[in-house]
Amino acid sequence: MSEQTSQQNPVRTALVTGATRGIGRAVARDLAKDHVVFVGGRSEQDVERLREELSGVGPGTRPFVADVTSDEQVAAAWEPLAREFPGLHVLVHSAGIAPQSTVADAPREMWEQIFDVNVVSVAQLTRLTLPHLRAAGGDVVAINSGSGFTSRASSALYSGTKFALRALTDALREEEREHGVRVSSVHPGRVATDMQRELHEYMGQEYRPEDWIQPEQIAAAVRMAVDAERASAVEVVSVRPSGMR
Ligand SMILES: NC(=O)c1ccc[n+]([C@@H]2O[C@H](COP(=O)([O-])OP(=O)(O)OC[C@H]3O[C@@H](n4cnc5c(N)ncnc54)[C@H](OP(=O)(O)O)[C@@H]3O)[C@@H](O)[C@H]2O)c1
Repeated sequence: MSEQTSQQNPVRTALVTGATRGIGRAVARDLAKDHVVFVGGRSEQDVERLREELSGVGPGTRPFVADVTSDEQVAAAWEPLAREFPGLHVLVHSAGIAPQSTVADAPREMWEQIFDVNVVSVAQLTRLTLPHLRAAGGDVVAINSGSGFTSRASSALYSGTKFALRALTDALREEEREHGVRVSSVHPGRVATDMQRELHEYMGQEYRPEDWIQPEQIAAAVRMAVDAERASAVEVVSVRPSGMR
């Protein structure tokens, strides 16, 4: 679609990081029904696979291939999208990592890497796209965690980033109110994704995906935030496993 056409008939746009797997993938699939989704991922092949799956579902997709910790890759992926679309309606931060370690065992590099992916990159991508979010009156949705509220043994790294992410989104919400950008923080409990399988492996526990929240349920929480009438804002949502089957 040309820039002129998109300005005359603005199409809704959504950038989803971590869209190649797990929660981000479910969010991208859902938002693709009525948004042009910028499919975020590190692997071009994985991004193209999802775009193929989503072809014909809604108004279309675009690739956003970048390691979120690389400012150069992120800028290169964003530049053609910023030129094609005047506004960004939704930015979903789902890319994340969850290495587990005790404080006793975690070297500096481990702290730096997890903070880079889960916090610093969220801040930098938000900063880069804010002019377009403001132009559209957009929504920023951060996939946080129950670990954004509580910490436990071996969770200092992960909870540390998710506490920090909550601080980031709480501040951003207040800063952007006057610019018309809403900020939502979604806090899932355990969700049936690769991340949860790896966590079970670390704890030496059997992993049964059916025991945990399905990624589509988190996509539904994101959808609630995005679809809320503009006079209201879904600021913080906690989605926990019910323990019932
Ligand atoms: N699963 C849970 O139980 C759970 C619970 C609460 C919160 N969360 C949060 O939900 C979010 C999504 O988690 P998930 O369970 O869907 O995880 P996942 O299945 O492990 O998927 C993680 C996604 O993040 C991407 N990613 C990781 N590092 C990246 C980087 N440097 N640059 C770009 N993309 C990167 C991965 O891309 P590749 O495919 O290229 O690796 C993948 O698409 C995370 O923020 C996580 O903390 C998860």
